[in-house]
Amino acid sequence: MDSHEINKVLGALLGTCLVLLSLNITAGALFSPHKPAKPGYDIVVPEHATEEGKPGEPEVPFANLLASADVKKGENSGKKCVACHTFQKGGAALVGPNLWGIVNRQKASFPGFNYSAGMKSKTGNWTIDDLNIYLQNPKAMVPGTAMNFPGIPKATERADVVVFLNSLADNPAPLPKAAAAPAAALAPAGQAGGAPKPPTPAPPAGQAPRPH
Ligand code: HEC
Repeated sequence: MDSHEINKVLGALLGTCLVLLSLNITAGALFSPHKPAKPGYDIVVPEHATEEGKPGEPEVPFANLLASADVKKGENSGKKCVACHTFQKGGAALVGPNLWGIVNRQKASFPGFNYSAGMKSKTGNWTIDDLNIYLQNPKAMVPGTAMNFPGIPKATERADVVVFLNSLADNPAPLPKAAAAPAAALAPAGQAGGAPKPPTPAPPAGQAPRPH
């Protein structure tokens, strides 16, 4: 075997290697399995699917919930509070301060009640919105609050409780107006005196059938 032939054999070997290599690369590119970052399927469980209406639905503004809230239901839910609060005018403080007239009452201002440092650091009056936030998760709004109550997660129930609290006054404050957009959406279609109606596809009753 002269060097010429050795070269040929080596060349053939090298060629075969190159072909195999490129096959391997193309096959890899064509069939490379895409491994998921996490093995298994992602099963998406919508949060609050049962509590707050269908998932993905826009959250109803609290003012709109107030508009349809029920003082009686709120009074009923308010039984959760009576272990610690009285609601009557002139009622005493228990574990928590009396809540008569709490809407628009200055925070941490019930005479003689020993509020937590966290509550004392809050300024301003209890607005409807503040009460909504506090009652959803007391510890989130007032870190270190002495109110040992987990909160009311359901927005409609909070709305009922807040309108009940609002009723605990000689002159209850007016509730915030419901947002205009959803209210307009609720208005019956084709209201008299409304904006000009968009063209309707169906011909008005009594019109001659269209010629073909
Ligand atoms: C386990 C007892 C407990 C329960 C139950 C409880 N609270 Fe309280 N609440 C407190 C205490 C204690 C405070 C004082 C908080 C502080 O100083 O941080 C307080 C404070 C408050 C305040 C602020 C009062 C103020 O003068 O600034 C509001 C409003 C309030 N509670 C509403 C409610 C409502 C409504 C419920 C029922 C849905 C409720 N709480 C249930 C103990 C309780």
